[in-house]
Amino acid sequence: ETVAVIIVAAGSGTRLGRNVPKAAVPVAGRSMLARAVEGAVAALPSARVVVVLPAEHQDLWEECAGWDGVVAVAGGAHRAASVAAGLRAAGEADVVLVHDAARCLTPPSVFESVRRALAAGARAVIPAVAVVDTIKTARPGPDPAIAAEAVGTTPARSGLRAVQTPQGFRRAALVDAHARAGAWPADRLESITDDARLMEELGEDVYLVPGDERALKITTELDLLLAEALLAAEGS
Ligand code: C5P
Repeated sequence: ETVAVIIVAAGSGTRLGRNVPKAAVPVAGRSMLARAVEGAVAALPSARVVVVLPAEHQDLWEECAGWDGVVAVAGGAHRAASVAAGLRAAGEADVVLVHDAARCLTPPSVFESVRRALAAGARAVIPAVAVVDTIKTARPGPDPAIAAEAVGTTPARSGLRAVQTPQGFRRAALVDAHARAGAWPADRLESITDDARLMEELGEDVYLVPGDERALKITTELDLLLAEALLAAEGS
């Protein structure tokens, strides 16, 4: 079974408060993108690797040009558009794994669990971990004098999962999902924050395999500190 890994790195990363795209931010001296590509290659040495980059950020394109066998394409206005661009460059692979550059410390075991479920016949597989916080939905507060949101509902925590990447799909199924989503209005597309969601919309079963704490998405300064501490603890 041939595999392509699409690493999406075309987001702006404004929450990290730097003046560069998030994927270019160094984690202990190496960019998130470099670490994400290395992690994918180490886990799946025979996979085709496609990286999706912000069109205008020259440094990332130059960094990618130095990596043998890695194909770089420009991303789109929202995540789904960036993934669609990556899919067009993924060749004829049987399965694709879509991975966030920001989850650059994801261990090989997570890639392997996703692969294994695909090989067993799943068409969509995502890594997930249990949620530690109690999660509530919010609604506009009923009393304007209090000027605060109010709780809507409290879903049972035992049934909730936080999902990570790489998310794995039969390529044909994901191409089909993106083709259908192409006709959606922009606001609906912008609400698609992961690929599994598109498959869910089509009524596909999306399987959950164990994720890993090290697959955290580096989004804030606190995440960056944690990632650097993890690398220091591992001696890398
Ligand atoms: O915004 P969020 O952190 O959920 O983005 C997840 C991933 O999607 C990041 O790796 C980001 O670079 C990528 N992305 C993209 N193109 C966009 C928006 C986000 O490749 N237009």
